[in-house]
Amino acid sequence: MVSDPIDIRDQNSYTTDQFIVQEAFKPDLKQILISEGEIVSRISRMAEKISESTTKRVESELYAACVLKGALRFFGTLTPKLSPTGEYSEGVIHASRYTEGKTTETRAEVSVPERKTIEGKDVLIVEDIIDEGYTLESIVENISAQDPSSVSIAVLFDKRDRRKVEIDIDYTGFIVPDEFLVGYGLDYNERYRNLDHLASLDSSVLKG
Ligand code: HPA
Ligand code: MG
Repeated sequence: MVSDPIDIRDQNSYTTDQFIVQEAFKPDLKQILISEGEIVSRISRMAEKISESTTKRVESELYAACVLKGALRFFGTLTPKLSPTGEYSEGVIHASRYTEGKTTETRAEVSVPERKTIEGKDVLIVEDIIDEGYTLESIVENISAQDPSSVSIAVLFDKRDRRKVEIDIDYTGFIVPDEFLVGYGLDYNERYRNLDHLASLDSSVLKG
C-alpha cells in the first residue's frame, strides 16, 4: 500500500447550507462530509503518486480503466492530472452487483476490456468506492486473466468497516464512515451523482 488515506470517520462535517448544494437535494441530505475542494485536492495528490510509480518503469504502458458509472467523475478529475512517462490509453469496466436466487450471497457481474487491449499494459483500475470488496475482487480477477503487465487500484472512498474480502488498494483517497453516501459520482437510485460534495443521505430517504 503506497497511499496514506485521509480518515474522516471521526472528523467534523458540514451543513448543507455551508456549501453550494442543489435546493432539491437539501432535504434529503444529512451532512456534507467532504467538500469538492478537498476531494479535488486529494485527487491531485493521488495523481502525483500514480505518476511517480510510472517513472520507475521505463517501458511502462499505462491503461486507466474507469469502473462505470460511479467512478466517471473521479476518473474525469484524475486522468488529466496524470503525467505517465510512457504510452497512455484508457477504457471502461462495467460492473453491477446482484443477489443470487434465495441465498443472501451477492455477486458482481463485470465486463472488462478484451485481451488485445490490455495485454502487457499496466492497468490502473479507477473506482469510486469500495465497501465489502466483492466487486473489486471480481474486477481484479477478470483483468488479471487478460495478462496485463501489472494491475493496480485507485479508490476515492474506502468504507473499510464493511470489508468482507481482503484486497490490496494501491491508492486510497479517503476512509469514510459506514453510512449511505452520495455525491461526487455516488448515487442512490441514480440520483445525487451531480452533487459536488460527498454527503450522507438522510435515513428518511432510504426508508421511503
Ligand atoms: N453510496 C453509493 N454507492 C455505494 C455506497 C454508498 O454509500 N457504498 C457502495 N456503493
Ligand atoms: Mg463503483
